[in-house]
Amino acid sequence: MNWLNGYAGRVETDVPLADLTWFKLGGRARWLVSPRSEEELADALRRAAGADVETKVLGGGANVLVRDDGFDGVVVRLDGPAFTKTRFDGESVHVGGGVELMPLSHACARRGLSGLEAMAGIPGTVGGAIRMNAGGRHGEFGDVVERVRVADCRGLIGILTRDELGFGYRTSTVADRVVLSADLKLTEGDPERTQATFRRFMAEKKQSQPLGDKSAGCVFKNPDGKSAGALIDAAGLKGVARGGASVSDVHANFIVTKPDATAAEVLAVIEHVRSEVAGACGVELELEIDVW
Ligand code: EPU
Repeated sequence: MNWLNGYAGRVETDVPLADLTWFKLGGRARWLVSPRSEEELADALRRAAGADVETKVLGGGANVLVRDDGFDGVVVRLDGPAFTKTRFDGESVHVGGGVELMPLSHACARRGLSGLEAMAGIPGTVGGAIRMNAGGRHGEFGDVVERVRVADCRGLIGILTRDELGFGYRTSTVADRVVLSADLKLTEGDPERTQATFRRFMAEKKQSQPLGDKSAGCVFKNPDGKSAGALIDAAGLKGVARGGASVSDVHANFIVTKPDATAAEVLAVIEHVRSEVAGACGVELELEIDVW
């Protein structure tokens, strides 16, 4: 029996994931579900768990590399109105898990709400940003999170408080739970100032990162206070290519791809970089991106 028999939500089968990710490559998902409500989401998760079908949540697709043979499970997307609303209430902001990060941080800066300026130039959704505590030198998303509403892999809905979320460098306790919505606490300030800060951080990124190329941002986590990009650069690996995938000449922690690149080529660059950096300075680089 098909585990989705009688499911009320929207389901597509055999869906190419390339167009839904920033790398613009990789295979298909066996199923793609776009729930219209928390109930439909919970039902899909419960059914998948009951049938032993693997589930993944796709946010903005900004930090994901899909393998060429695709993903033999169900991909959930929170792109419907139930998950993409933002409500402002003084210094508090209530956001859906599917809200896009950049427009959100820009909207907050325009209102003079300070706290998300460091998200300038970081793609993705609120759910993804919470799960991996997205950020950079100027701050992390977790800095402004008060509590998060999540669904676990069996579709049970609960709340995680800031303490329970255990934010660290590119990590939180969200793991395989789905972020439905979040309460953020920002600081009221001067709109001129917050917008100027947002623009300054955006300009910094444009200058030091290949934002116009297809990539998934930084590929490796920074090891113990060192910059992975600086280590890869020092190992002489800028420009190293496998087919259509290469180490960026602008920032060495980015792998940029041409339109004909494959996931296998990106993975080959990753393995080469890892072994060269380990050989050059003894550091084992850990992936920041998710490989599906
Ligand atoms: N550097 C080089 N060569 C390079 C890249 C960097 O020598 O190819 C040097 C820079 O000159 C600088 C130092 O390394 O002295 C640090 O570089 P950068 O300021 O670019 O910061 P990063 O540590 O490489 C981190 C985040 C970025 C974030 C920036 C800015 C990680 C893995 N990366 O990069 O996040 O945008 O700080 O805040 O934590 C991402 O997570 O996808 C990402 C891009």
